[in-house]
Amino acid sequence: MAGVTTTQAGNLSPETTASEAQPTVRVVGLRKGYREGTSRHSVLESLSFDVRPGECVALLGRSGSGKSTLLNLLAGIDRPDEGRIELLGAPITDLTEPALTLLRRRCIGFVYQFFNLIPTLTVAENLALPLELNRTPVHERRSRTRALLTRLGLDRRANAFPDQLSGGEQQRVAIGRALIHEPALVLADEPTGNLDAETGERVLALLAEVFRERGRAMILVTHSLAVSRIADRVLTLEQGRLIDAAPGLSW
Ligand SMILES: Nc1ncnc2c1ncn2[C@@H]1O[C@H](COP(=O)(O)OP(=O)(O)OP(=O)(O)O)[C@@H](O)[C@H]1O
Ligand SMILES: [Mg+2]
Repeated sequence: MAGVTTTQAGNLSPETTASEAQPTVRVVGLRKGYREGTSRHSVLESLSFDVRPGECVALLGRSGSGKSTLLNLLAGIDRPDEGRIELLGAPITDLTEPALTLLRRRCIGFVYQFFNLIPTLTVAENLALPLELNRTPVHERRSRTRALLTRLGLDRRANAFPDQLSGGEQQRVAIGRALIHEPALVLADEPTGNLDAETGERVLALLAEVFRERGRAMILVTHSLAVSRIADRVLTLEQGRLIDAAPGLSW
């Protein structure tokens, strides 16, 4: 819908637009492929699914099956070849770049596999970045950052820089940064893929706990069936299509 303007997208918030009736994410007929010379390498073929408020969906699939491609499309970082993506009812596939940027800042939290922290900012500054971009008043920014630092067990590291942190600490900052602005949708791309098993488990438990407290929607990409156990629903990407449930799961 070309008529959606920056202002309209800017007014979207979980409080005003999410309801039980409305999915957080609606994907209809999504296709994405890449050109390779004269041929086309199809990655996603006609995907359709909804994710509801409060739901955690684990997204499984072998390497190269298109999991990151799908997350990037959902975040509006990349554009599909065909199909529609709605975030809280707004058709993000039709938004202009500035409108999309605003919507992303307000409504999406992204946890990247390799943390993506800003090296020149401290832990507290990295954490507060989404609030700064959203022009949250300074006093609220400070109090939310302080509360989240404590919640993440990072209060003593508030003034450290990312290269002074362990992998688990960096990932906790990345998780905090994805949650601090209370986004309607959290996208996590293998958030424990880069950590040892024990640290990964602790980070995941924290992500699940903080996510549950806030009752937002989450799509969690993982290679691990164990990780997918925190999810309400498991979707597997296979040959460009989504299969509802992971093969061999017994619950
Ligand atoms: N910019 C691009 N140009 C061409 N091909 C691409 C591009 N980005 C991704 N691909 C291809 O799309 C397919 C899906 O990639 P994607 O990164 O989404 O996989 P993935 O499921 O996230 O894999 P992994 O588990 O290894 O992270 C791969 O075959 C990849 O080579
Ligand atoms: Mg990937």
